[in-house]
Formats: sequence, structure tokens, C-alpha cells
Amino acid sequence: MSPSSREPPVALRASSAVSAADGMSALCAESFVVGCAVGAVLPDGLTPQEQALLVGQFAALTPENCMKPVSIQPAPGRYDFAEPDALVAFAEQHGMAVNAHCLVWHQQTPDWSFSGDGVRERLVDHIRTVVGRYAGRVATWDVVNEAVAEPGEGLRESPWLAALGPEYLEIAFHAARAADPGAVLYYNDYNIERPAKRERTLRLLRGLLERGVPVQGVGIQGHWVLDQLPFADLEAAIEAYGGLGLEVSLTEVDLDVIDRPDCGADVAVHREYHLDQDLYAEGCPPEILARQAEQYGRLVRILADHADTVARLSFWGLHDGVSWLNDWPGKRTNHPLLFDRACRAKPAMDAIARALQR
Ligand code: G3I
Repeated sequence: MSPSSREPPVALRASSAVSAADGMSALCAESFVVGCAVGAVLPDGLTPQEQALLVGQFAALTPENCMKPVSIQPAPGRYDFAEPDALVAFAEQHGMAVNAHCLVWHQQTPDWSFSGDGVRERLVDHIRTVVGRYAGRVATWDVVNEAVAEPGEGLRESPWLAALGPEYLEIAFHAARAADPGAVLYYNDYNIERPAKRERTLRLLRGLLERGVPVQGVGIQGHWVLDQLPFADLEAAIEAYGGLGLEVSLTEVDLDVIDRPDCGADVAVHREYHLDQDLYAEGCPPEILARQAEQYGRLVRILADHADTVARLSFWGLHDGVSWLNDWPGKRTNHPLLFDRACRAKPAMDAIARALQR
């Protein structure tokens, strides 16, 4: 693990002979932290069974929505800290790290943020207020999310770019560093393992580092589709980002079992998407689960082989029933995660355990 990460809780720095029965975190403990995104209000938004799954399997929490700009500051100067406060308190109570998400994004951000005078001041004020509130209590911050163009060159044409120019990234990273000197600061994006977007991202990060901008980590989101997981690209990406001296985390992993038009992850993009039927409404066929298991195993093996660079693997949801992939790019019953709707471990857990023994 990269030296810039905060140390994982002691219980996670285990141990030798572990099996799937010991849980996901224990399985990977020697290599990297394993986390999970939670959309529910903690603790009562989860059933007791879900809570047990969360604390039994995972060592870190990402707020799926409640720390995004529109949630945490819905109106100018009016902050709503109830859900994030509860999430951070829950994490502390259970010895889990918090991977906070996210400060600067073109989505889930109110229009008033980018309009009129004082955009820069409002951005800095938001970051100072939010990061400052949790300073010392979160391990990492996704400071800027999805700023690289896809398709296209350079930066995404976002309202932040229009309002502040490319400088908005450095403004954000400097403000975050000033508000919490200890949090590891991340740039987070999807498809940045793929060659073209990887090159654009490397160029961006290299430029930031040369100008002394305090970016320390790269989050490869990892919203993949079964049979299309780009293993070779991923390895090359980990090595390339690691080569810049950055730690790498897989921040939002899921493995969609139903094909979709592409591996993007932008809910604002509505592509042609049509399913004649809800293919796996009655359950996921065993042969699909077996392929998913094999691919999850291979993924975790690659990450463990790069444990000097990879700090964390976080899944985007606790179990299949709460995944965003049940709703996007269209409604369907999906099965993308490690645990099924009854909170039972899927075949992927055994495959991961086997892959780590090799
Ligand atoms: O909060 C409202 C609620 O009041 C309303 O009743 C309900 C009706 O649909 O909508 C709720 O808001 C939804 C929100 O999730 C909370 O559930 C939004 O419609 C929905 O668009 C939003 O989706 C989230 C999406 O980001 C927004 O862009 C997903 O849950 C979340 O998983 C997803 O996460 C993103 C990461 O932040 C960045 N990377 C890609 C990833 C997947 O898109």
C-alpha cells in the first residue's frame, strides 16, 4: 500500500490463512483496504442483516450520494450535514475508514454554484466548510470527479470549466489540502484505464503535479460489464498512474451482468437502451454467476499483484438489491456485486479466495 494512505485499522492488517468465510476485508487485508458505497441513511436505513454484512465484510465506507454538492449544500450557505454526520459516526463506531465523495462534479451540483459572480469564492467556501467539518476523520477525498473529456480531448466541457477555466481543478485541490492536511486527495473518473482516456488523464495529472497541486491518488471507478473487463488496460493504467508517484484505488467497482451500450457511468447520458424482458428477474443463472466469479477473482489477483500501488478496492453498493445498475441505463433486475439480495455471498467470494491463494 502506498505510504500516503492512512493506516488501515489494526484488525485489517491481518494475516495468513484466510478463507471466504472470514469476509472480503480479511481476504484482501495483506494487500489493500476493501470498502463499500452506502446510499442508505445510517444506521436505520439498513436492516440489521445489512448492517451486519457491511461491518462484517468491509473496512471502509463511501457515501453514495449524501456528500455530493447538491445533497450537502442544497441552497447557498444552507448545509445539510445530518446524513454525512451519521455516516462518519457509524464508520468510527465500527472502526471503518471513510472515503468521502465528492467535492467537484458537473452532476448533482446546483446550478447556482456555477452562475453569476463569485463562483470561485463559492467553490472554495464549499470545500473549506465540508472538508473542514470532517478534517481528521476521513481517509480520502474524491476532490474532483470526472473532469476528463469522453469523448473528446482535454477536459470535459463542464459548467466548472466554463466558469473558471482549467484552473478549477487546482483551486479545488489546494482548498481541500488547506482544510484537511491529512486526507489523501484523489482525482476520480471512469474508463481512465482505457488507453485514450488514460493518456488524457495522465497528461492532466502530470500537469497538476508539475505545478505542485496536491493530488495524491487516482480513483479508477470500475463500472464494468461482464466479459468486457479490460484486464490488460487496467494493469497498464495502475502502473502508469503509480509511475507518477500516485496511489491508485478502484473506487466504484461493479460488474454488470446485462450488456449495455458502453461502460460509461454517467446517469445524465441516455443512450438507446431497450430490453425485451427483464432477463434475470427470477435470479441470475449459475453460468453467469460463474463467469462473474472468475472475472472478479482475476481482478482481485491483479490488484494484489500491484499492492504496492493499489490502496483500496471499493464496491459500488452493499448487495445486488441496492445497486444503481437496477435503474441505469434502464430498469432491470441486476446482479453486479459480491452479495445477493438476501445478503448471501455469491460464487465470486470463493473465486476471490482461490485467486488470492495463487
Ligand atoms: O434523492 C431523490 C429522491 O428524493 C427521489 O425520490 C428519487 C426518485 O428517483 O430520486 C432521488 O435522487 C436520486 C439519487 O441517486 C439518490 O437516490 C437520483 O434521481 C439519481 O439520479 C441518483 O443517482 C446516483 C447517481 O450517481 C447520480 O449521478 C446514484 O445513486 C449513484 O450511484 C451514482 O453514483 C455515481 C458516482 O457518484 C460517480 N461515478 C458514477 C456513479 C454511477 O453513476
